[in-house]
Amino acid sequence: MRVSLLQRFIVLCIAFHSSDISLASKRQGQHKDTRLTLKPVRGQLTLSSGRIKLGEVYLSGINGLRGEREKATGGEKGLKGDQGNQGEKGEKGDSCSDSCRKFVTSTVRQTASDACNTRLEGELRYDKTTAKLYICSRKQWRQLQTVLRGEINSPPRKSCLEILFNGESQGDGMYWINPIGTNHQRNAFRAYCDMTTSGGGWTLVAKVTHDYSWVCPDRDGGMCLGSKTNPLNANLFHDIHQRDSVDLSIKSNVDAGVHLNDTIIRLLFVAGRQSVRFTFVSSGNDWTPSEDAYAAFNPSKKNSMFVDHEWGQYTLDNVDYTWNIIQHTRKDKTFSGKIICWGNKVKHSYRFYDHGLHIGSPASAHKPCLLDNNENEVMLKSHYATLQGSPLKARWDMAQFGFLGAQYVQVPNKRIAIWVR
Ligand SMILES: *[C@@H]1O[C@H](CO)[C@@H](O)[C@H](O)[C@H]1NC(C)=O
Repeated sequence: MRVSLLQRFIVLCIAFHSSDISLASKRQGQHKDTRLTLKPVRGQLTLSSGRIKLGEVYLSGINGLRGEREKATGGEKGLKGDQGNQGEKGEKGDSCSDSCRKFVTSTVRQTASDACNTRLEGELRYDKTTAKLYICSRKQWRQLQTVLRGEINSPPRKSCLEILFNGESQGDGMYWINPIGTNHQRNAFRAYCDMTTSGGGWTLVAKVTHDYSWVCPDRDGGMCLGSKTNPLNANLFHDIHQRDSVDLSIKSNVDAGVHLNDTIIRLLFVAGRQSVRFTFVSSGNDWTPSEDAYAAFNPSKKNSMFVDHEWGQYTLDNVDYTWNIIQHTRKDKTFSGKIICWGNKVKHSYRFYDHGLHIGSPASAHKPCLLDNNENEVMLKSHYATLQGSPLKARWDMAQFGFLGAQYVQVPNKRIAIWVR
């Protein structure tokens, strides 16, 4: 986005009244004018082609404001300026006649120094340094971020699977979903959907892309023994690792191990096919899996997967689930999940190591859910922290074995993604 273009050619008309916000833009020197009409539903503006969610602002249709092809500015995907123009044409042409009377004409502001106050409400600001566009709303400059057409479905579906069922899939990528189903303004979020693997409809619910930085940030990526961080953080499903949105970006900081809210994951799981998929990547810089498989849980059996404060142990032998292998390239390793354990925020130790989700084969011990150390088997197992004493207290394990790189525990991997369908 070239600031000169915005400054010179765009006049933005913004009107705010109690129940409607209209933003009309007129570009001169272009063949067609572009008008965006935004209809707010409380904190959120709906656009014929998308919407703005205030707080974490996404504006679809802003592409119509630009005539230049644009590179990604740090988001997941590049912006397609050319395509943006298409959808705006043939727009319903509504409400401008009403709201135009109240238009406040303004140009895009460039100065970062202006504090967003009531006087500037509705003004747009382009920050040259960061190449980002902001709107002044309720005394805060909120960033406008473009997303590609098709990423937004309105109203949002409940899951990636539902988007697929409704024929709205645009391939793998970020989509708005709302598993709760009501109050989109509050509950909708952007999720990464794998729409192609084994039928598609997979929602990314957790990932690990670095072994230690997310567990104990104070050690700067080093092993956690001696860390001041609470050892209970070693659980990938600890609240501290919860994010409103999980994408496939590869991180080596605190965002290297993240998950969606467990209640949301459970909703996706129960409303879908009760399947949990594990993608293991052993080489490369992307998400091409070396091993990929999913457990399809037996719907006629009760389970408490992703229910906090309850632990459960599910086995292949009991036909609690079936194990479906999608990809298996390391032929010298086995790839079997005989047991899946879930125990988040449980009072007692179900595993004598960090809580959360684990998969592997049972060790020959009488401890519940104790997984075998089997470096020949691809599995999700870690020994960051242990629980000891009475009452149980977490402490860093003397021998640090992370999810990804540990020998002697499991087959080393570079990254792991966990999906639900
Ligand atoms: C997860 O989401 C549910 C439902 O919205 C909410 O009640 C709960 O507080 C959330 N949990 C956390 C840890 O944020």
